[in-house]
Amino acid sequence: DNDVESTVENMQSCTQIVYAAHLLKADEAVAFPTETVYGLGANALSNVAVEKIFAAKGRPSDNPLIVHIAKKEQLSTIASEVPAKAEKLMEAFWPGPLTIILPRTDEVASLVTAGLDSVGVRMPDHPIALALIAAANLPIAAPSANRSGRPSPTTAAHVLADLEGRVAGVVDGGATGVGLESTVIDVTVEPPVILRPGGITREQLEEVIGSVDLDPSFQAGAAETPRAPGMKYTHYAPEGEMWLVEGGEERVRVKMADMLHEAKQHGRRTGVLATEETAAYWRANPDADIVLSVGSRTDLGEVAHQLYAVLREFDNLKAQFIVGETFSREGLGMAVMNRLEKAAGGRIERA
Ligand code: TXA
Ligand code: MG
Repeated sequence: DNDVESTVENMQSCTQIVYAAHLLKADEAVAFPTETVYGLGANALSNVAVEKIFAAKGRPSDNPLIVHIAKKEQLSTIASEVPAKAEKLMEAFWPGPLTIILPRTDEVASLVTAGLDSVGVRMPDHPIALALIAAANLPIAAPSANRSGRPSPTTAAHVLADLEGRVAGVVDGGATGVGLESTVIDVTVEPPVILRPGGITREQLEEVIGSVDLDPSFQAGAAETPRAPGMKYTHYAPEGEMWLVEGGEERVRVKMADMLHEAKQHGRRTGVLATEETAAYWRANPDADIVLSVGSRTDLGEVAHQLYAVLREFDNLKAQFIVGETFSREGLGMAVMNRLEKAAGGRIERA
């Protein structure tokens, strides 16, 4: 019985993949799951196709897209050169949540790279993404499948909430795994630079290629303009005004409680982005209308996995003022804190 069910499920996803591949070959934009977040894909060799991504998302045209491949043989179509360190990274982390910036070929549609002479490439670690790209037999440009500025989608329902009626199709592969976008590393410079922290940590990268720099723009409190064009936009943001509160545990609690109290006095609907360790405490506070946990403080993988769904849930529940706890910037914490800071638009209180 189970066998029959899983066979039927396999056939349904095969049908979806074949149809989606057909749409991609016809220069349409189709959303599909990857191990990080859902992507909105289109033929990376066609400006007609890629234009549909920008239109559907409402994305600024100076923000380049990542090109996804299923096999290393596709690399030579889009990258003119693969430095030795890039080879090592591909060997170690592909398929997986690592985007590598490489010199581009002329075949890449100009809209993909927004006028840059480099292109970001990754091989996603998701069976549906790999099957779809292989079936289309094209390199697929795909940003996250959200309306520009909204949190990235980690389920097909999130994609539909943002893009229904604006794209040719969505392949439903259930919830994504990592939950945050890939790490972006530029290996066209020496030492290589992390342009966006993500699923592969700095520590993991350094084990393979030695020292890597961090783009100064996403280090705590930085004011620099980021080198990854996409990092400069307010991103990942819920509709409510979000604040992060950093500092010692007790002082953070007092500060957050004060902020909630004040917001309530102004008649605002309040939310707390809490953890398993603190959710019960906040639920007992009458100034907190909505309390959502992103998981346990001891499991940053779980926090990353749930973060965007929780940010979207604050919108669904109409939170107008949100206070959030912060996390260590070690390992995956760097990516989690980067997304939280963007969600908060840089609003951080130090308790
Ligand atoms: O996990 C991911 O990377 C997801 C899934 C769908 O693969 N994709 C994704 O794409 O997050 P997007 O477009 O939302 O983010 C791409 C980021 C942006 O910050 C963009 O500026 C940067 O990568 N980027 C792309 N090409 C670049 C280039 N040639 N040079 C510098 N930054 C680049
Ligand atoms: Mg995005």
